[in-house]
Amino acid sequence: MIKFDSVTKAYNKVLALNNVNLEIHKGEFLSVVGQSGAGKSTMMSLIIGEERPDEGQILIDDIDIAAIRAKDIPYLRRKIGVVFQDIKLLPMRTAFENIAFALEVSGEKPSMIQKEVPKILEMVGLEEKSKAFPHEMSGGERQRVAIARALAHKPVLLLADEPTGNLDSINAWEIIQLLLKINKAGTTVILATHAKDIVNSVKKRVITLENGEVVYDQEKGKYVL
Ligand SMILES: Nc1ncnc2c1ncn2[C@@H]1O[C@H](COP(=O)(O)OP(=O)(O)OP(=O)(O)O)[C@@H](O)[C@H]1O
Ligand SMILES: [Mg+2]
Repeated sequence: MIKFDSVTKAYNKVLALNNVNLEIHKGEFLSVVGQSGAGKSTMMSLIIGEERPDEGQILIDDIDIAAIRAKDIPYLRRKIGVVFQDIKLLPMRTAFENIAFALEVSGEKPSMIQKEVPKILEMVGLEEKSKAFPHEMSGGERQRVAIARALAHKPVLLLADEPTGNLDSINAWEIIQLLLKINKAGTTVILATHAKDIVNSVKKRVITLENGEVVYDQEKGKYVL
């Protein structure tokens, strides 16, 4: 589904990724670990086409994303849902409206939105918070709304960059359970994280980055650093 072929990316003189070769298969749950500055977020930015590699190629379903036409980028982005550590919800809108907004901006019909949003809220276990505003929710609930929003377009791939970074361990674990459930329903998930306990208990594939290089790639992996 995703192939990194000798990918190198530098920001000015900082080498963020160094000759990375990697294949991520459809349906996989992949954790990407490594110290701060190891290149995890850079990997995510390259996958969504926000940054371009200096050398090498990134193929998504055999399409070279560096060669993609500008007008096709929104289409690519819609296939990929993204969740970050700092949850940017619209503060004046309810959980329902935050999810609905993602669909409105891409021109979905109101009837479709009214039908789909409750299903997505149910998927993330927030049916009861439909009318709650972000300030009325816990950090974990807000992150679940952010995940729901990322799922609105039924992406084939979900990228989660430190989604548990601001959460306590119980909420963090719930978010990981949710990501595992989303993966089980068929979405490929890539999780970048520092959280050692989480990675070790997930028992799925783990790649470890060190100074922009893949130093370990393990099935049912452990956090080795
Ligand atoms: N926009 C940028 N401009 C300049 N340097 C950058 C930029 N983004 C990242 N870098 C550098 O590239 C390297 C990799 O950064 P990246 O954000 O990918 O690391 P990371 O593994 O996500 O770290 P963290 O765990 O802290 O989020 C770092 O040395 C970082 O300082
Ligand atoms: Mg990062």
